[in-house]
Amino acid sequence: MIKIEFEKIIYERRTIRRFKNEPISLDILKKLIDYARLAPAAANIQSLEYIIVQKSEMRKKLFPLLKWAAHLPRDQRTPKEGERPKAYIIVLNNIKIKKNAQYDIGAAVENILLGATNFGLGACWMGSIDKIKIRELFKIPNHYKISHVISLGLPNEISIVEPFKDSFKYWKDEKGMMHVPKRSREDIIQKIY
Ligand SMILES: Cc1cc2nc3c(=O)[nH]c(=O)nc-3n(C[C@H](O)[C@H](O)[C@H](O)COP(=O)(O)O)c2cc1C
Repeated sequence: MIKIEFEKIIYERRTIRRFKNEPISLDILKKLIDYARLAPAAANIQSLEYIIVQKSEMRKKLFPLLKWAAHLPRDQRTPKEGERPKAYIIVLNNIKIKKNAQYDIGAAVENILLGATNFGLGACWMGSIDKIKIRELFKIPNHYKISHVISLGLPNEISIVEPFKDSFKYWKDEKGMMHVPKRSREDIIQKIY
C-alpha cells in the first residue's frame, strides 16, 4: 500500500533559502533532533550531536558565516534582512565516539529535512560554512567535528523541480521562483536485471 503522506513529503521537499518572519517553536526543533536520533548509523555507533540556535543574537552572529546558493548570480544568493533563517541546527560529530560519520550525517540530516517539510518548514542543508568562526562563536570543543549547518524557517519562496537538460545549475526566474533540474528516473536506472 502506498503511503500518500510520505510520498508527498518526498516530492515537496526542496531547499529553501528565503524565510518568513515567524519563529519556530523549540518543541518542533527538538522534534527534528528526535528524527535525526532515529536515523541509521553505521554499527549503531551514534556520534552525532546538535546545537539548536534560536535566539536572535546568536542567529545574527551565525548568519555571516554561511554561504548561500553559489549557482545564482551574486545579488540573488543571500537572503536579505527579514528573510533570514529563524533557527539553525548545527550538526556535530563527536570524534571521541567515531571519527568518520559521513554516511550517518547524510541519513540524519535527510531525516531533519523531511521532518521540517512535514511541519511546513523550509530548510537549507549547508556545507559552505566558516567552521573556524563557528567553533569560536559557540565555543565548540575540539573533539567535535563541525559538519554542517541546517537553516530553517517558514518558506518565503517557491522552488520546483524541472527535468535536467544540460546543466545541474539551479536558477531563479523573473518571479523569484527557484528551478532545480533533476535527472530523470529513466536516466539513472542503469540496468534492470
Ligand atoms: C552536502 C550539502 C551541502 C550543501 N551546502 C549548501 C550551502 O552551503 N549553501 C546552499 O545555499 N545550499 C547548500 N546545499 C543545498 C543544495 O544546493 C541543494 O540541495 C541542491 O541545489 C538541490 O536542491 P533541492 O535540495 O531543492 O533538491 C547543500 C546540499 C548538500 C546535500
